[in-house]
Amino acid sequence: MQIVKILVVTLFLASSIKAQKIELLTKQDKISLRGLSVVNDSITWASGSNGTIARSINGGKTFEWITVKDYEKRDFRDIEAFDANTAVIMAVAEPAVILKTTDAGKTWKKVFENSTKGMFLDAMNFDENNGVVIGDPIDNKAFIASTKDQGNSWQEIEKNKEDTIKNGEAFFAASGTNVKQLKDDKILYVTGGTDSRLFYNQKLYALDIIKGEESTGANSVAVNSSQQNAVIVGGDFKHDTVSTKNCVLVNLHTSLVFSLPKTPPHGYRSCVTYISKDTLITCGTSGIDISTDGGMNWKLISNESFHVCQKTKKGDAFFLAGANGRIAKLSF
Ligand SMILES: *[C@@H]1O[C@H](CO)[C@@H](O)[C@H](O)[C@H]1NC(C)=O
Ligand SMILES: *[C@@H]1O[C@H](CO)[C@@H](O)[C@H](O)[C@H]1NC(C)=O
Ligand SMILES: *[C@@H]1O[C@H](CO)[C@@H](O)[C@H](O)[C@H]1NC(C)=O
Ligand SMILES: *[C@@H]1O[C@H](CO)[C@@H](O)[C@H](O)[C@H]1NC(C)=O
Ligand SMILES: *[C@@H]1O[C@H](CO)[C@@H](O)[C@H](O)[C@H]1NC(C)=O
Repeated sequence: MQIVKILVVTLFLASSIKAQKIELLTKQDKISLRGLSVVNDSITWASGSNGTIARSINGGKTFEWITVKDYEKRDFRDIEAFDANTAVIMAVAEPAVILKTTDAGKTWKKVFENSTKGMFLDAMNFDENNGVVIGDPIDNKAFIASTKDQGNSWQEIEKNKEDTIKNGEAFFAASGTNVKQLKDDKILYVTGGTDSRLFYNQKLYALDIIKGEESTGANSVAVNSSQQNAVIVGGDFKHDTVSTKNCVLVNLHTSLVFSLPKTPPHGYRSCVTYISKDTLITCGTSGIDISTDGGMNWKLISNESFHVCQKTKKGDAFFLAGANGRIAKLSF
């Protein structure tokens, strides 16, 4: 019996370290992609600089590249797609705008605009119809607005004294994944810069992650589907091969329990995503790592640079996007 067990474990290990395949699907020179949203195994949208949107409805076999008219100079740092025709995109600053299409990107309607100086939107996240957008602090308060109708209308959330952000502490607009819309109207976010903290249950918690510079701190957070566990990644994008203090694991109990990975990701990482109960992928400019134990140990699977990685909301497909308009598919 014992021998059989050992055999099974060995086989399992052998199969779990089999090579993952990264297939480059498309590219577009000088376009930086940081927004990615995968609706199902066939529908993928990405967004980025120079007013650019990419859309595939055949699982990434072909992409349609769209430049949003009158927004050719804007950087769409995040996108959320709801189906083949419907998506919202976020342009960061001056004015900060959110646009929505319901005709596959042919026309876009402005659903949010704010031209306040200093306004800089960083990321959006949705749970079905409910969504949140987060922007850099103005007067030491994060800018947060919410929607209940897939982004048709947005309401700014009133600020409270529990979430005062320090000078030089802000949000990275690296991959659209540092804020999460949780169930029960709650939100969770991570900050970076002079300090790096986690906001959860109306409180800010210090993170044991590299901080102190404009280029340091948490970039992305993944929350498991039962909202009990979170994995946070980041680091220093100016020193992107350094692996110290670039990842924190959080148990989201009433009193939070923080821990550090045994083998951290191999460098600065801008995005982290769950692909199943215990398996996560993280990516950044210095490569891609996989963890099969909830974030405790990370294995480098590629040295290729990507800014953002997303699993499909329904199905198995997994995509990455990054500099030079590169979109890739990761298969296991
Ligand atoms: C994805 O969703 C679209 C529209 O809802 C549907 O037509 C298509 O069959 C779906 N594809 C997969 C692979 O689920
Ligand atoms: C994107 O915009 C930048 C700055 O406006 C410009 O230098 C660059 O050539 C544009 N890239 C493409 C591919 O149009
Ligand atoms: C824009 O955002 C700022 C900062 O939160 C707020 O004070 C202002 O009322 C907003 N303006 C509009 C037009 O919504
Ligand atoms: C989320 O994480 C907790 C704690 O590790 C685990 O007990 C739970 O099963 C996870 N939920 C899902 C849906 O994976
Ligand atoms: C990444 O690059 C290092 C150094 O060049 C090399 O040793 C390693 O095999 C590469 N890893 C992968 C997964 O490609």
